[in-house]
Amino acid sequence: MEDGNTLSYPFEFSDISDEEKKMIDKLHSFSYASELARLGPKGYIVTKAFKKNAADIYNLPLRSGDIFVTSYQRSGTTWTQELVWLLANDLDYEKALTVPLIERYSFLEMFMFVPDGGLESFMKAARQNSENFNEDMMIQFINRIATPASQILATAQSPRFIKSHLPMSLLPPKLLGTAKMVYIARDPRDVIVSFYHHTKLFMMTGFTGTFKEFWHLFHKDLLAMTPYFEHVKEAWEKRHDPNMLFLFYEDLSKNLPAAIHRVADFLGKKLNDAQTAALCDHLSIENFKKNKAVNFEEFRAFGMLAKNEEFVRKGKTGGWREYFDEEMTQQAEKWIEDNLKDTDLRFPSTN
Ligand code: A3P
Repeated sequence: MEDGNTLSYPFEFSDISDEEKKMIDKLHSFSYASELARLGPKGYIVTKAFKKNAADIYNLPLRSGDIFVTSYQRSGTTWTQELVWLLANDLDYEKALTVPLIERYSFLEMFMFVPDGGLESFMKAARQNSENFNEDMMIQFINRIATPASQILATAQSPRFIKSHLPMSLLPPKLLGTAKMVYIARDPRDVIVSFYHHTKLFMMTGFTGTFKEFWHLFHKDLLAMTPYFEHVKEAWEKRHDPNMLFLFYEDLSKNLPAAIHRVADFLGKKLNDAQTAALCDHLSIENFKKNKAVNFEEFRAFGMLAKNEEFVRKGKTGGWREYFDEEMTQQAEKWIEDNLKDTDLRFPSTN
Protein backbone atom coordinates (compact mmCIF):
# COMPACT_ATOMS: atom_id res chain seq x y z
CA MET A 1 0.00 0.00 0.00
CA GLU A 2 1.35 3.38 -0.92
CA ASP A 3 0.71 6.34 1.34
CA GLY A 4 -0.49 9.37 -0.59
CA ASN A 5 -0.42 12.56 1.50
CA THR A 6 1.31 15.49 -0.17
CA LEU A 7 3.47 17.70 2.03
CA SER A 8 4.53 21.15 0.98
CA TYR A 9 8.27 21.29 0.40
CA PRO A 10 9.81 22.74 3.55
CA PHE A 11 13.27 23.68 2.24
CA GLU A 12 14.59 26.58 0.25
CA PHE A 13 17.25 26.61 -2.43
CA SER A 14 19.83 29.36 -2.14
CA ASP A 15 22.78 30.43 -4.26
CA ILE A 16 26.28 29.56 -3.15
CA SER A 17 28.28 32.66 -2.29
CA ASP A 18 30.43 34.49 -4.85
CA GLU A 19 33.55 33.58 -2.92
CA GLU A 20 32.61 29.90 -2.94
CA LYS A 21 31.80 30.09 -6.66
CA LYS A 22 35.26 31.41 -7.33
CA MET A 23 36.87 28.63 -5.30
CA ILE A 24 34.94 25.99 -7.23
CA ASP A 25 35.28 27.48 -10.70
CA LYS A 26 39.02 27.91 -10.59
CA LEU A 27 39.28 24.11 -10.21
CA HIS A 28 36.98 23.20 -13.10
CA SER A 29 37.23 23.47 -16.86
CA PHE A 30 33.84 25.24 -17.02
CA SER A 31 31.65 27.13 -14.58
CA TYR A 32 30.54 24.08 -12.62
CA ALA A 33 29.57 26.35 -9.72
CA SER A 34 26.76 27.85 -11.79
CA GLU A 35 25.10 24.38 -11.72
CA LEU A 36 25.10 24.24 -7.91
CA ALA A 37 22.82 25.44 -5.12
CA ARG A 38 22.53 25.01 -1.38
CA LEU A 39 19.43 23.42 0.05
CA GLY A 40 17.69 23.67 3.40
CA PRO A 41 18.95 24.80 6.80
CA LYS A 42 22.06 22.65 6.62
CA GLY A 43 22.97 24.04 3.22
CA TYR A 44 23.44 20.72 1.44
CA ILE A 45 25.06 21.18 -1.96
CA VAL A 46 22.86 19.90 -4.77
CA THR A 47 22.67 20.73 -8.44
CA LYS A 48 20.06 23.24 -9.53
CA ALA A 49 18.48 20.44 -11.56
CA PHE A 50 17.46 18.81 -8.27
CA LYS A 51 14.79 21.47 -7.87
CA LYS A 52 12.53 19.90 -10.45
CA ASN A 53 12.03 16.71 -8.45
CA ALA A 54 12.90 17.65 -4.86
CA ALA A 55 9.27 17.84 -3.70
CA ASP A 56 8.34 14.60 -5.49
CA ILE A 57 11.21 12.81 -3.76
CA TYR A 58 10.15 14.26 -0.41
CA ASN A 59 6.64 13.01 -1.10
CA LEU A 60 7.63 9.73 -2.71
CA PRO A 61 4.75 7.31 -2.11
CA LEU A 62 6.28 4.49 -0.12
CA ARG A 63 5.36 0.85 0.04
CA SER A 64 6.06 -1.58 2.84
CA GLY A 65 8.75 -3.83 1.43
CA ASP A 66 10.70 -0.94 -0.11
CA ILE A 67 14.40 -1.18 0.70
CA PHE A 68 16.61 1.90 0.56
CA VAL A 69 20.42 1.73 0.48
CA THR A 70 21.79 5.17 1.24
CA SER A 71 25.14 6.80 1.98
CA TYR A 72 27.39 9.73 1.35
CA GLN A 73 28.83 8.72 -2.03
CA ARG A 74 31.95 6.51 -2.17
CA SER A 75 31.24 4.97 1.23
CA GLY A 76 30.63 1.42 -0.03
CA THR A 77 27.14 1.86 -1.46
CA THR A 78 27.58 -0.56 -4.37
CA TRP A 79 28.99 -3.25 -2.09
CA THR A 80 26.07 -2.81 0.32
CA GLN A 81 23.51 -2.75 -2.52
CA GLU A 82 24.70 -6.09 -3.84
CA LEU A 83 24.72 -7.62 -0.37
CA VAL A 84 21.23 -6.35 0.45
CA TRP A 85 19.80 -7.35 -2.92
CA LEU A 86 21.16 -10.89 -2.75
CA LEU A 87 19.87 -11.46 0.77
CA ALA A 88 16.47 -10.01 -0.06
CA ASN A 89 16.29 -12.16 -3.21
CA ASP A 90 17.20 -15.48 -1.63
CA LEU A 91 20.72 -15.49 -3.11
CA ASP A 92 19.60 -15.36 -6.73
CA TYR A 93 23.14 -15.22 -8.16
CA GLU A 94 21.96 -15.95 -11.67
CA LYS A 95 19.95 -12.74 -11.78
CA ALA A 96 22.59 -10.78 -9.84
CA LEU A 97 25.22 -11.69 -12.41
CA THR A 98 23.10 -10.94 -15.45
CA VAL A 99 20.93 -7.95 -14.54
CA PRO A 100 23.06 -4.85 -13.86
CA LEU A 101 22.77 -3.39 -10.39
CA ILE A 102 21.71 -0.07 -11.94
CA GLU A 103 18.61 -1.87 -13.23
CA ARG A 104 17.93 -3.71 -9.99
CA TYR A 105 17.96 -0.43 -8.03
CA SER A 106 16.41 2.93 -8.86
CA PHE A 107 18.93 5.70 -8.18
CA LEU A 108 16.63 8.34 -6.74
CA GLU A 109 18.50 11.55 -7.57
CA MET A 110 20.60 10.42 -10.53
CA PHE A 111 18.70 12.83 -12.81
CA MET A 112 20.20 15.77 -10.98
CA PHE A 113 23.61 15.12 -12.52
CA VAL A 114 22.23 16.01 -15.92
CA PRO A 115 22.67 19.78 -15.94
CA ASP A 116 19.83 22.20 -16.57
CA GLY A 117 22.17 24.46 -18.48
CA GLY A 118 22.81 22.08 -21.39
CA LEU A 119 25.18 19.20 -21.92
CA GLU A 120 27.95 20.77 -23.97
CA SER A 121 30.36 21.52 -21.14
CA PHE A 122 29.87 18.03 -19.70
CA MET A 123 30.37 16.43 -23.11
CA LYS A 124 33.53 18.40 -23.63
CA ALA A 125 35.04 17.20 -20.37
CA ALA A 126 34.17 13.59 -21.21
CA ARG A 127 35.41 13.91 -24.80
CA GLN A 128 38.81 15.08 -23.63
CA ASN A 129 39.29 12.45 -21.01
CA SER A 130 38.13 9.17 -22.39
CA GLU A 131 39.02 6.77 -25.11
CA ASN A 132 36.19 5.60 -27.44
CA PHE A 133 34.05 8.71 -26.89
CA ASN A 134 30.72 8.05 -28.63
CA GLU A 135 28.52 11.10 -28.61
CA ASP A 136 25.31 9.36 -29.74
CA MET A 137 25.55 6.65 -27.12
CA MET A 138 26.43 9.22 -24.52
CA ILE A 139 23.36 11.31 -25.38
CA GLN A 140 21.16 8.21 -25.29
CA PHE A 141 22.53 7.29 -21.90
CA ILE A 142 22.13 10.79 -20.54
CA ASN A 143 18.55 11.02 -21.74
CA ARG A 144 17.86 7.78 -19.91
CA ILE A 145 19.29 9.00 -16.62
CA ALA A 146 17.57 12.38 -16.94
CA THR A 147 14.19 10.79 -16.16
CA PRO A 148 13.59 11.15 -12.42
CA ALA A 149 13.51 7.77 -10.69
CA SER A 150 10.40 8.82 -8.77
CA GLN A 151 8.45 8.54 -12.05
CA ILE A 152 9.82 5.08 -12.78
CA LEU A 153 9.20 3.93 -9.22
CA ALA A 154 5.49 4.76 -9.50
CA THR A 155 4.94 1.73 -11.73
CA ALA A 156 7.82 -0.47 -10.56
CA GLN A 157 7.08 -3.91 -9.19
CA SER A 158 7.48 -4.57 -5.48
CA PRO A 159 9.75 -5.07 -3.70
CA ARG A 160 11.48 -1.92 -4.88
CA PHE A 161 15.19 -1.38 -4.27
CA ILE A 162 16.19 2.27 -4.07
CA LYS A 163 19.65 3.82 -3.95
CA SER A 164 20.24 7.37 -2.77
CA HIS A 165 23.03 9.66 -1.66
CA LEU A 166 20.55 12.15 -0.24
CA PRO A 167 20.69 12.86 3.49
CA MET A 168 17.68 11.66 5.45
CA SER A 169 16.18 15.14 5.77
CA LEU A 170 15.73 15.36 1.98
CA LEU A 171 14.02 11.95 1.80
CA PRO A 172 10.38 11.32 2.77
CA PRO A 173 10.06 12.24 6.46
CA LYS A 174 8.07 9.10 7.32
CA LEU A 175 10.33 6.76 5.39
CA LEU A 176 11.25 4.58 8.35
CA GLY A 177 7.59 4.20 9.27
CA THR A 178 7.01 2.20 6.08
CA ALA A 179 10.25 1.17 4.37
CA LYS A 180 13.61 -0.20 5.46
CA MET A 181 16.90 1.62 5.09
CA VAL A 182 20.49 0.42 5.18
CA TYR A 183 22.91 3.35 5.54
CA ILE A 184 26.64 2.87 5.08
CA ALA A 185 29.24 5.30 6.42
CA ARG A 186 33.00 5.40 5.95
CA ASP A 187 35.98 7.31 7.32
CA PRO A 188 35.72 10.64 5.45
CA ARG A 189 39.42 10.57 4.59
CA ASP A 190 38.96 7.34 2.64
CA VAL A 191 35.73 8.71 1.19
CA ILE A 192 37.48 11.74 -0.23
CA VAL A 193 40.30 9.74 -1.82
CA SER A 194 37.71 7.50 -3.42
CA PHE A 195 35.55 10.46 -4.49
CA TYR A 196 38.58 12.13 -6.09
CA HIS A 197 39.20 9.06 -8.26
CA HIS A 198 35.50 8.81 -9.02
CA THR A 199 35.50 12.43 -10.21
CA LYS A 200 38.43 11.68 -12.48
CA LEU A 201 36.72 8.49 -13.71
CA PHE A 202 33.52 10.22 -14.86
CA MET A 203 35.10 13.60 -15.46
CA MET A 204 31.68 15.14 -16.13
CA THR A 205 32.30 18.00 -13.73
CA GLY A 206 35.52 18.95 -15.50
CA PHE A 207 37.57 18.96 -12.28
CA THR A 208 41.14 19.98 -13.09
CA GLY A 209 42.65 20.41 -9.62
CA THR A 210 44.89 18.29 -7.41
CA PHE A 211 43.86 15.87 -4.70
CA LYS A 212 44.73 18.49 -2.08
CA GLU A 213 42.40 20.97 -3.72
CA PHE A 214 39.65 18.37 -3.90
CA TRP A 215 40.08 17.67 -0.18
CA HIS A 216 39.81 21.38 0.41
CA LEU A 217 36.45 21.51 -1.40
CA PHE A 218 35.26 18.57 0.72
CA HIS A 219 36.01 19.89 4.17
CA LYS A 220 34.83 23.38 3.20
CA ASP A 221 31.44 21.82 2.28
CA LEU A 222 31.71 22.59 -1.42
CA LEU A 223 31.20 19.14 -2.94
CA ALA A 224 27.87 17.50 -3.81
CA MET A 225 25.87 16.48 -0.71
CA THR A 226 28.22 18.11 1.75
CA PRO A 227 28.30 18.96 4.65
CA TYR A 228 29.52 15.41 5.07
CA PHE A 229 29.13 15.11 8.84
CA GLU A 230 25.56 16.41 8.81
CA HIS A 231 24.75 13.71 6.27
CA VAL A 232 26.16 10.92 8.42
CA LYS A 233 24.80 12.26 11.69
CA GLU A 234 21.24 12.43 10.35
CA ALA A 235 21.36 8.68 9.72
CA TRP A 236 23.30 7.93 12.90
CA GLU A 237 20.54 9.56 14.96
CA LYS A 238 18.08 7.03 13.52
CA ARG A 239 20.28 3.98 14.03
CA HIS A 240 18.05 2.48 16.75
CA ASP A 241 14.93 2.61 14.60
CA PRO A 242 13.87 -0.98 13.84
CA ASN A 243 13.68 -0.13 10.13
CA MET A 244 17.19 1.36 10.00
CA LEU A 245 20.47 -0.52 9.81
CA PHE A 246 23.56 1.66 10.14
CA LEU A 247 26.76 0.06 8.85
CA PHE A 248 30.39 1.11 8.64
CA TYR A 249 32.50 0.25 5.59
CA GLU A 250 35.33 -0.52 8.02
CA ASP A 251 33.21 -3.23 9.72
CA LEU A 252 32.39 -4.90 6.39
CA SER A 253 36.05 -4.76 5.56
CA LYS A 254 37.20 -6.25 8.86
CA ASN A 255 34.59 -8.99 9.20
CA LEU A 256 32.35 -9.49 6.19
CA PRO A 257 30.62 -12.67 7.52
CA ALA A 258 29.54 -10.78 10.67
CA ALA A 259 28.24 -7.89 8.56
CA ILE A 260 26.36 -10.31 6.31
CA HIS A 261 24.65 -11.80 9.36
CA ARG A 262 23.67 -8.35 10.64
CA VAL A 263 22.08 -7.51 7.29
CA ALA A 264 20.42 -10.94 7.11
CA ASP A 265 18.92 -10.49 10.60
CA PHE A 266 17.68 -7.05 9.61
CA LEU A 267 15.95 -8.49 6.54
CA GLY A 268 14.64 -11.53 8.41
CA LYS A 269 16.80 -14.02 6.50
CA LYS A 270 18.90 -16.97 7.66
CA LEU A 271 22.14 -18.18 6.08
CA ASN A 272 24.15 -21.30 6.79
CA ASP A 273 27.95 -21.33 6.81
CA ALA A 274 28.29 -22.49 3.21
CA GLN A 275 25.91 -19.80 1.98
CA THR A 276 27.77 -17.16 3.98
CA ALA A 277 31.11 -18.27 2.55
CA ALA A 278 29.74 -18.21 -1.01
CA LEU A 279 28.33 -14.73 -0.47
CA CYS A 280 31.67 -13.48 0.94
CA ASP A 281 33.34 -14.82 -2.17
CA HIS A 282 30.84 -13.14 -4.48
CA LEU A 283 31.31 -9.84 -2.60
CA SER A 284 35.11 -9.92 -2.59
CA ILE A 285 36.83 -6.98 -4.22
CA GLU A 286 38.54 -9.32 -6.70
CA ASN A 287 35.21 -10.72 -7.87
CA PHE A 288 33.59 -7.30 -7.87
CA LYS A 289 36.27 -5.98 -10.17
CA LYS A 290 35.43 -8.75 -12.67
CA ASN A 291 31.66 -8.63 -12.21
CA LYS A 292 30.17 -6.66 -15.13
CA ALA A 293 26.82 -6.33 -13.36
CA VAL A 294 28.36 -4.14 -10.66
CA ASN A 295 31.63 -2.67 -11.97
CA PHE A 296 30.25 -0.04 -14.40
CA GLU A 297 32.76 -1.17 -17.04
CA GLU A 298 29.98 -1.30 -19.66
CA PHE A 299 30.20 2.51 -19.77
CA ARG A 300 33.78 2.29 -21.00
CA ALA A 301 32.64 1.07 -24.40
CA PHE A 302 31.13 4.42 -25.29
CA GLY A 303 33.73 6.56 -23.66
CA MET A 304 32.03 7.46 -20.44
CA LEU A 305 35.00 6.45 -18.28
CA ALA A 306 38.45 7.99 -18.16
CA LYS A 307 41.41 5.78 -18.90
CA ASN A 308 43.47 4.65 -15.89
CA GLU A 309 40.50 4.84 -13.52
CA GLU A 310 37.99 2.21 -12.36
CA PHE A 311 34.71 2.31 -10.44
CA VAL A 312 35.62 -0.65 -8.24
CA ARG A 313 39.06 0.45 -7.13
CA LYS A 314 41.22 -0.56 -4.14
CA GLY A 315 38.53 -1.48 -1.61
CA LYS A 316 40.80 -0.81 1.36
CA THR A 317 40.56 1.04 4.65
CA GLY A 318 43.14 3.62 5.68
CA GLY A 319 44.44 4.15 2.13
CA TRP A 320 44.08 7.92 2.73
CA ARG A 321 47.49 7.90 4.47
CA GLU A 322 49.15 7.66 1.06
CA TYR A 323 47.36 10.83 -0.09
CA PHE A 324 47.40 13.18 2.91
CA ASP A 325 50.46 15.30 3.67
CA GLU A 326 51.13 16.51 7.22
CA GLU A 327 49.10 19.67 6.80
CA MET A 328 46.07 17.81 5.47
CA THR A 329 46.37 15.15 8.17
CA GLN A 330 46.20 17.81 10.86
CA GLN A 331 43.35 19.63 9.14
CA ALA A 332 41.44 16.36 8.93
CA GLU A 333 42.06 15.46 12.56
CA LYS A 334 40.76 18.81 13.74
CA TRP A 335 37.83 18.74 11.33
CA ILE A 336 36.80 15.28 12.49
CA GLU A 337 37.28 16.14 16.17
CA ASP A 338 35.22 19.34 15.85
CA ASN A 339 32.43 17.49 14.10
CA LEU A 340 32.31 14.59 16.55
CA LYS A 341 32.11 16.82 19.64
CA ASP A 342 28.35 16.85 19.85
CA THR A 343 27.73 13.19 18.99
CA ASP A 344 28.65 9.67 20.06
CA LEU A 345 29.30 8.76 16.41
CA ARG A 346 32.80 7.23 16.10
CA PHE A 347 34.35 5.63 13.02
CA PRO A 348 35.85 2.20 13.72
CA SER A 349 39.61 2.32 13.90
CA THR A 350 41.40 1.05 10.81
CA ASN A 351 44.67 0.25 12.60
P1 A3P B 1 37.87 2.86 -3.10
O1 A3P B 1 37.78 3.90 -4.16
O2 A3P B 1 38.49 3.37 -1.83
O3 A3P B 1 38.48 1.60 -3.55
P2 A3P B 1 30.40 3.53 -3.64
O4 A3P B 1 29.87 2.24 -4.11
O5 A3P B 1 29.64 4.16 -2.50
O6 A3P B 1 30.64 4.48 -4.76
O7 A3P B 1 31.82 3.24 -2.96
C1 A3P B 1 32.91 2.92 -3.75
C2 A3P B 1 34.02 2.40 -2.86
O8 A3P B 1 33.69 1.08 -2.43
C3 A3P B 1 35.32 2.29 -3.64
O9 A3P B 1 36.37 2.50 -2.68
C4 A3P B 1 35.26 0.85 -4.13
O10 A3P B 1 36.48 0.31 -4.54
C5 A3P B 1 34.73 0.19 -2.86
N1 A3P B 1 34.19 -1.14 -3.12
C6 A3P B 1 33.37 -1.51 -4.14
N2 A3P B 1 33.16 -2.83 -4.09
C7 A3P B 1 33.86 -3.31 -3.04
C8 A3P B 1 34.06 -4.61 -2.51
N3 A3P B 1 33.49 -5.68 -3.05
N4 A3P B 1 34.88 -4.74 -1.43
C9 A3P B 1 35.45 -3.65 -0.87
N5 A3P B 1 35.30 -2.40 -1.34
C10 A3P B 1 34.51 -2.22 -2.42
